[in-house]
Amino acid sequence: MKVAIASDHGGINIREEIKKLMEEMNISFVDLGCECSTSVDYPDYALPVAEMVAKGEVDRGILICGTGIGMSIAANKVQGIRCALVHDMFSAKATREHNDSNVLAMGERVIGPGLAREIAKIWLTTDYEGGRHANRVEKITSYEQSLQTK
Ligand code: RB5
Repeated sequence: MKVAIASDHGGINIREEIKKLMEEMNISFVDLGCECSTSVDYPDYALPVAEMVAKGEVDRGILICGTGIGMSIAANKVQGIRCALVHDMFSAKATREHNDSNVLAMGERVIGPGLAREIAKIWLTTDYEGGRHANRVEKITSYEQSLQTK
């Protein structure tokens, strides 16, 4: 598995924690920034990560900002992206099993690095269940694809 990760200035510490985790898990990743602690705009980081996932250049994306909300809103504008904003371990598992989420968003002003690490570990290792969930995910994909022809 290959992962693209990015954060704005509000998510740098958790980004570093998740990079350490992925090194320990032998998961290869590309870090798309941000490089500085001065204020940056989260769409400039969410959209490139989401594009990489949508194009199949990486398998998954992880985005961190202050709340995770801006990152998730931006990422979900990209066709094919199912970005889940997650701040608990139950949802980390459920969104992989039920939604086949391909991008994870978290907020550094909401949770600490320890919980973020556990969430990311679960999210990275849980498989999509398919089955009864497949039809639901397919309805989202079909709607998205129908917008292309409008
Ligand atoms: C930046 O101040 C903050 O707005 C951003 O990190 C994020 O929380 C946006 O949703």
